[in-house]
Amino acid sequence: MVATGICRTDDHGMKGKLENSYFPIILGHEGAGIVESIGEGVERFKPGDKVIPLCLPQCGQCICCNDPRTNICIVASTDNRRGLMADGTSRYTCKGKQIYNFFHTSTFSEYIVVEEIAATKIDNNAPLDNVSLIGCGFTTGYGAALNTAKVHPGSTCAVFGLGCVGLAAVMGCKAAGASRIIGVDINKDKFDLAKELGATECINPKDYDKTIEQVLQEKTGGGLDYVFECVGNTNTMVAAIKSSHFAFGTTVIVGVSDKNETITIDPMIFLTGRKMASSILGGLRVKDAIPKLVTAYMEKKVDVGKLVTHRLPFEEINKGFDLLQSGKSIRTVLLF
Ligand code: APR
Ligand code: ZN
Ligand code: ZN
Repeated sequence: MVATGICRTDDHGMKGKLENSYFPIILGHEGAGIVESIGEGVERFKPGDKVIPLCLPQCGQCICCNDPRTNICIVASTDNRRGLMADGTSRYTCKGKQIYNFFHTSTFSEYIVVEEIAATKIDNNAPLDNVSLIGCGFTTGYGAALNTAKVHPGSTCAVFGLGCVGLAAVMGCKAAGASRIIGVDINKDKFDLAKELGATECINPKDYDKTIEQVLQEKTGGGLDYVFECVGNTNTMVAAIKSSHFAFGTTVIVGVSDKNETITIDPMIFLTGRKMASSILGGLRVKDAIPKLVTAYMEKKVDVGKLVTHRLPFEEINKGFDLLQSGKSIRTVLLF
């Protein structure tokens, strides 16, 4: 590994909030590195290749991999692998004890072992610090807008949560030609960058006596075409759905909530035509999508580097988590 971002999902994993993480574990899933060696039978890589590990690999054989409607793979799903390699072993130990991997990747380690299907080759001139974000956060938000929601030109959008994922969704809405992009966050320090990346206005729910869904409905004459929940909070998920237009609004749940949380909502809210969608990594098949996004970055079509607010040596990983938890960073990239 050369660089790895610290994503909110790592924080969820560390706190035991995810259904499918097993302990003890090496966290990290948003990284970039260089192939050091390959195992027997590996054909797609050679030592020296620059790669991004894939937290959503595809076996290429299963019913889902053969269906273009999804980017999920049944065989390589985290549920099935349970933090281990395909052969049921772990390549990590500490003091003789087995350590599990995190979403196939475990990028918080200088050397990692991944299956051939859990990496993708990228442009060998790519700067690995910035493009590491394409391994998760950037792709998740950007893909949610362009691929899952398929935001259309001239549409109205709102993005709840202006962290790396939400800001990438803002960038996706802008790239799709949305005419209005409203950023929603309880931390107003996020607003300047959100506006720089494409938000046409930003609002803080705490500034209003009304609910955020009322505020957004009033601002847009009945609700938005597309709403993205990029917080991971069940209350904002419900508020996001209610902020979408009653007849043609689509809400995309992007944030990952605590495994013990549920949402309660009047199902009649959907009867008039509202839709709810959700996706992992923007619904994109990342083996092919990630190299393309890296190329787009190299061609200056997407400025992923804007989301990197802090760079730290790997040894300062705990400082990176402090920056995330205090809301002071968008993304910290750790450098090995
Ligand atoms: N309303 C609006 N914004 C909120 C609220 C709220 N009630 N609570 C928190 N936020 C904002 C935070 O201030 C922060 O700017 O949501 C943003 C979340 O950003 P990060 O913590 O940086 O998280 P990020 O890495 O962008 O991930 C967002 O997507 O992939 C998932 O697991 C991830 O659930 C997480 C979500
Ligand atoms: Zn598969
Ligand atoms: Zn992530």
